[in-house]
Amino acid sequence: MSEKERLVELRNIVKIYGEHMVLKSVDFDLHAGEIHCLVGENGAGKSTLIKILSGAVSPESGEIVILGKKMKTLNPRLAIEMGITTVYQDAEIVDSLTVAENIFLGNELNSKMPFKIDKQRQADETQKILENLGIDLDANELAGNLSTAEKQMVQIAKALHRKARVIIMDEPTSSLGLEETRALLTLLKNLKSQGLGIIYISHYLNEVFEIADRITILKDGEKMGTYPLQEVDLNTVVKKMVGRDTALFFQRKKVPIGDVRFYVRNLTKKGIVEDVSFDVRAGEIFGIGGLVGSGRTELVSLIYGALRPDSGEIVMDGKTVVLKSPIDAMKKGICFVSEDRKKYGMFLGRNVVENLVAVKNKLSRRFLLNLSEELRLSTQTVNKLSIAVSDRDQLIEELSGGNQQKVIIGRWLLNTDAALYIFDEPTKGVDIGAREQIYQIMLELVENKKSIIMVSSDMPELLSMSDRIGVMRNGRMTHILQNDGLKEEDLMRLFIGV
Ligand SMILES: Nc1ncnc2c1ncn2[C@@H]1O[C@H](COP(=O)(O)OP(=O)(O)OP(=O)(O)O)[C@@H](O)[C@H]1O
Ligand SMILES: [Mg+2]
Repeated sequence: MSEKERLVELRNIVKIYGEHMVLKSVDFDLHAGEIHCLVGENGAGKSTLIKILSGAVSPESGEIVILGKKMKTLNPRLAIEMGITTVYQDAEIVDSLTVAENIFLGNELNSKMPFKIDKQRQADETQKILENLGIDLDANELAGNLSTAEKQMVQIAKALHRKARVIIMDEPTSSLGLEETRALLTLLKNLKSQGLGIIYISHYLNEVFEIADRITILKDGEKMGTYPLQEVDLNTVVKKMVGRDTALFFQRKKVPIGDVRFYVRNLTKKGIVEDVSFDVRAGEIFGIGGLVGSGRTELVSLIYGALRPDSGEIVMDGKTVVLKSPIDAMKKGICFVSEDRKKYGMFLGRNVVENLVAVKNKLSRRFLLNLSEELRLSTQTVNKLSIAVSDRDQLIEELSGGNQQKVIIGRWLLNTDAALYIFDEPTKGVDIGAREQIYQIMLELVENKKSIIMVSSDMPELLSMSDRIGVMRNGRMTHILQNDGLKEEDLMRLFIGV
C-alpha cells in the first residue's frame, strides 16, 4: 500500500436545497494514512459534504470515486461496504449488549453448534482489536455503562473490524471532556499510522492544527482551498473561513460589578451535588469549570428548575425561591440557555420564527399571535446573531448544527426581563465568528446589570469571559477563584484535584 493511495475522491459536487445551493462544485480527496480536516463557518456545507460521501444525501451532480471505483449511486449500506464509516456521537451502539457483541453485531461468529454464537471467541477478538488500538476497555463490559467518548471508540473499533478504510468524524469532541478529547486524538493518530484515511470536522481549530495533514476550508458552499498543514497558519485559515480578520482570542471588556443579586447556600442533591454555596453579582460573569461528570450541569439544573434540590437554598433579590420547572424559573427571572439542543432546545417541525418566539410566547401566555411583532423580533435576532437561514419558513432541523444553537440562544435573549442568565456550553458547535457575537451578547447583558452563570469546558472561553470561576469536582465546588492571572494549567490541576 503506497502512502499516497487515494481512498476517496469527490469531484464537482453540487447540492441544492430548495433554491439554496449549499455545495457549489466542491472537490475533495482523501489519501490513505492521512487526517484531512474540514473547516468552515456554521452552514458552510461541511456536514452535507460528508453526508454525500457516506451515502446519506445524494448530490445534484458531481462524481464520487471510492477506492478507484466511480460510484453511480451510493447509499449508506453501500458506503459502509466500500469501507466508509461515519462515527456519530451516540448512535449505533446498543446499550443492552456488551462491547464485543456490539462490535460483532450483524457479523456474529458462530460456534460449532448450529445457531449458537461463539461469545468467547468474539470477546477474545474484540479484546485484541481494542488492545491494538490502545483502547482501555473490557470487551465484556455492557455498552450502556460506557461514556459518549468510549462509545465513539467502540464504533471506531467496530468500523475497523468491518475493514473500514475511511473514518469520518463530524465534531466528535463537542461533548467530550479534556482528557477524553486527548484520548480520541491519540487514537486517530494511531489509526492514521495504520494506513486509514480520516476526515475530521471540528470548530476547535487547535485540535485541527494538532492532527491535520491537510486542511480544506469551505465557505458558503464553496471550497476556499486545500492546504498541507505546513503551508498554512491559524490566522490564514480563520481569515479564509470567516472572510475577514477575526481576533483569535477574545478580549472582553470589564464592566463595573454591582451587588449580590443571587446566591445559593448548601445546595444539595444527594450523590450528585453536595453542599454548594456561591453568589453572583449584578454585572458579573461567574464561570463554572470542571471535568465532565463533575456535577456542573447538574448544579445549574438545580438553579433553573430542571432538578429539585434535596436541601439548601436559592435566593434571588433577597427572597428564597422554589423553582418548580424551567418555565417557573423563567417567570422568576432565571433564564437558561440549554446545552443539549436535541433534548431541551428545539421545537422540531417548526420554523425558525416559531422557534425564536416560542419562549416569549409561552411566558406571556399569548395565544393570539402577533405576527408582525414576531417577524420583527425574529428578524432582529437573525441579523444580530447572523443566523444563516435561506428563508424564515425554513424548519429548524434543516439548519446547520451551529445555526440551530444560535436560534436557541437567540430565543432566550428575546426574554429580556430575566435577572440571571445561565449559559451551559454557550458556544459548543458554534463557529469562531458567531462565538464572538455570542460573547458580545453576554457582555451587553452584564453591561445592563444582569448576572451570568456560565458552564464551559472550553478553557480559553472560561478564562477570557469569567470574572470569577467556581471549580466543580465530584459534585462539590472545591474552589472559587478571582480570575486574574489564572492559567489553563492552574485550572486543570484543580479540576483533576492534584
Ligand atoms: N435537510 C435540509 N434541508 C434544507 N436545507 C438544509 C438541509 N440540510 C442542510 N441544509 C442547509 O445546508 C447548508 C449547509 O449545512 P451543513 O449542515 O452542511 O453546514 P455545516 O458546515 O455542517 O455547519 P455547522 O458547523 O453549523 O454544523 C445550511 O445552510 C443548511 O441550512
Ligand atoms: Mg455540521
